[in-house]
Formats: sequence, structure tokens, C-alpha cells
Amino acid sequence: MTQDRPRRSALYLPASNAKAIAKARTLPCDVVILDLEDAVAPEMKAEARAAAVAAVREGGFGQREVAIRANGIDTEWGAADLAAIAGSGADAVLVPKVSSPADIDRYQAALADAPASMQLWAMIETCAAMARLDAIAARAADTRLSLWIMGTNDLAKEMRARLTPERTPFLPFLSMAVAAARAHGVAVLDGVCNEFRDLAVFRAEAEQGLLFGFDGKSLIHPDQLAPTNEVFSPSAEELAWAQAVIAAFALPENAGKGAIRVEGKMAELLHLDQARRLIAVAERIGGNG
Ligand code: COA
Ligand code: MG
Repeated sequence: MTQDRPRRSALYLPASNAKAIAKARTLPCDVVILDLEDAVAPEMKAEARAAAVAAVREGGFGQREVAIRANGIDTEWGAADLAAIAGSGADAVLVPKVSSPADIDRYQAALADAPASMQLWAMIETCAAMARLDAIAARAADTRLSLWIMGTNDLAKEMRARLTPERTPFLPFLSMAVAAARAHGVAVLDGVCNEFRDLAVFRAEAEQGLLFGFDGKSLIHPDQLAPTNEVFSPSAEELAWAQAVIAAFALPENAGKGAIRVEGKMAELLHLDQARRLIAVAERIGGNG
């Protein structure tokens, strides 16, 4: 299942930057996003599109999932981007500023000729999307939609809110987006942190994303990879707890019980589910190195 792939770290890079593309093939990111949109100037759009498609065809990304971020369907580049990405062999097309279920349907239609395996990933970054999160996520049931990425820079711009390290104005939206995504089996990644020199500030934001339930974080710089992978990998302590819960429920005296005591804390069958999931996540990460 695509849902089960590790997506701790998703690194954006401008597809117009050949050096960054070459570097991405060697970096410890779970996902590479070749950007044609915000990171590429208008006069470079055609060149970036060709470079992204060529990079995917050339391969060399190993276990990493590769997505290409298109310009919006209503921009002058959107249609050409979507047609090129559909035929590129990328794992996913990431589309910007999705604001309604109808937007998902338009992208789905534009990708009619793409291979069945190509996923549709959506940027959640407009004010309009915030009131329609559940309806947008629900389109995953019968479209290619499988993952969301929060676009906190665009959301801040539209709201005219300030993007501080605490992210206070955005916290309700982050929670609502995670809940809506989970309700419909959509994976969900946190937005980028523009601070790439101060890794203490960055790390605190990554930890906030984990706390909120995100599967991983979108990133802009290689220096952000190591802290992100660490934050979004289950810790030794969490794994030990998970093993203890699984072992305790397997004891004969606990057979048929719904709630038991493990190391002085209550564990219910829902915690057994969480423990199994955590161990499965760790195993998949092990497979990704
Ligand atoms: N992916 C891959 N490699 C990257 C990278 C990225 N996102 N960002 C920087 N690098 C590489 C540089 O090419 C450089 O390589 P080198 O050591 O071989 O010369 C190295 O990492 C160090 O780069 P650095 O000098 O620290 O950064 P910079 O000042 O050149 O660039 C940014 C800073 C923010 C412009 C750049 O990181 C970037 O373009 N990030 C992605 C922006 C993006 O895609 N935005 C859209 C989504 S929000
Ligand atoms: Mg944007």
C-alpha cells in the first residue's frame, strides 16, 4: 500500500536546479519533490518542466518516492505541466492550491492518461480549503488522491497571518487537516520551515508536527533532513513500550481482556493497535535505510 511508505522527509527542490537534482539522488530523504511552481521563476518554467521529466526518466532515486509539483491548472503552464508529468513515470503529481472537491476532480480528469499507479498529491494552502477539508479528503475514495502537504507559507500569505516559530495562527488548521486526512485514509505532511540555518528552531517545529500527527515534514534544505528523519522515526523508548504492550496482551492471564496494566500504566486494545502500527512503521523505515 502506498499509504504505508515512510514519508518522514519530503525535500523540495527547484527542478531548474540541476545541481540540487543530482544531490537529491544521494540524500537521505524519503520523498523528492521536483518543483515547477513557487520555486521556479516564470521565464524558467519550460526549462524546469523538461528538466524534471528528464530527471525522472534518468532515474537514480533508489527507494525515494519522486513527485513533481505542477503549476496550477488555471495558470498558463498548468496544462503542459500536467501532460508532461502524466507521461514522466513519476510516483506522484503534486498540485497546488486545492480548494474544493471539484478541484480534485479537475486534476483527476487532467490525469486520465497517466498510469494507474500515479498518485495525486494535493497542497492544502488556501483559506478556501480550510472550510472544506473533509470534503476534499473524501475525494480519495474514487480518485488518485492519496496525500496532502500543508502549504503554510501560502496560507500565511492569504490569511495575512504571521508565521512565527510557534505557528499559533495555524494550529487549528493543522489539527483539522490531520483529522480530515486520517478520516479518509489520506497521508499528510507538515509544511516547510523557512529557517534552515538555525536547526534548533527547525527541530522544534518538526517535533510540533510529530505531536500533531503528521506522517512527516516537507523540507527546503538538505540540513533539515537528519533532524526530520530522527524526529519522525519511532524512538527506542517508544518501541520498547510497544513491545511491552504486545508482550503483555499475549500473556495467558490477559487473554480476553480489553484493558490491562503495563509498566504501571493502562493499556487498552487500542494501544495494542498503536503498538503494532509503531513497530510496522519502524520496520518500513528500516527498509528505507
Ligand atoms: N535540494 C537539494 N540540494 C539542495 C537544496 C535542496 N532543496 N538546497 C540546497 N541544496 C544544495 C546546494 O545546491 C548546495 O550544494 P553544494 O554543496 O553541492 O554546492 C548545498 O545544498 C548547500 O546549499 P546552501 O548554500 O546551504 O543553500 P543555498 O543558499 O544555495 O540555497 C535555498 C538556499 C533556500 C535557495 C535552497 O535551499 C532551495 O532552493 N531550497 C528549495 C526551495 C524550494 O524548492 N521551494 C519550494 C517549496 S517551499
Ligand atoms: Mg505555494
